[in-house]
Amino acid sequence: LAKTPLFQGVPPQAIEVAREAFVTRNYPAGKLIFEAGDMGAALYIVQSGQVRIYRTYLDGRERMFAYLGPGEVFGEMSLLDDQPRSASAETTVDSVLLVLYQDAYWSLVRKWPEILHNLATILARRLREADLELEVLSFEEARGRVAYALTKLRKQRYGDGLKMKLTHQELAQLSGTSRETVTRVLHALREEELVKVGSGYVEILDPAGLEEVLFGLR
Ligand code: CMP
Repeated sequence: LAKTPLFQGVPPQAIEVAREAFVTRNYPAGKLIFEAGDMGAALYIVQSGQVRIYRTYLDGRERMFAYLGPGEVFGEMSLLDDQPRSASAETTVDSVLLVLYQDAYWSLVRKWPEILHNLATILARRLREADLELEVLSFEEARGRVAYALTKLRKQRYGDGLKMKLTHQELAQLSGTSRETVTRVLHALREEELVKVGSGYVEILDPAGLEEVLFGLR
């Protein structure tokens, strides 16, 4: 708990109390935690494993928003505004999650307002990312979108590793394009020696070059 951004700068005593307030839950790989539209007012922290945040549309297509790893927080939106879940959450591997219910959240926040400030910081960061994403998805061609998805995925899921296990279908869901388009764009990026593409993986050869593509600079 001490390592999550939610408890940054919060006194150790608060973390002790918080430990009691959270409920620990084990989830196997591929387990749905909640679905978009569900009511629910608990906040989650990933203790170990990985959670993916996504939405499924009526025509069956899926859009992936994020992969979250250890220390990361989700489910805070419904906790704060009492509206239905904005997206679905599912484990990708066996995971341990810490769950905080609304009453417990409020009693923590009343005693240590730093927690609320930290949550606001997390939301601000996410809004910045969402703004950038909106810009890329509305103004950039498929090329920029695919470069964006690759860059985001690298940062979220692989730290600084550049070789990613990834299918064209997955990349299409992340960049809001079709699988065929992804295949075409990857081919071009490979020709320009920005990426290397193998069966079931994509390796970024030139991260800076890829960021230029993302912003339409090359
Ligand atoms: P909530 O709406 O309660 O449930 C779905 C959660 O997904 C939401 O809270 C956020 O925590 C998380 N979420 C929604 N959109 C994004 C996004 N673009 N990036 C990362 N996490 C998100």
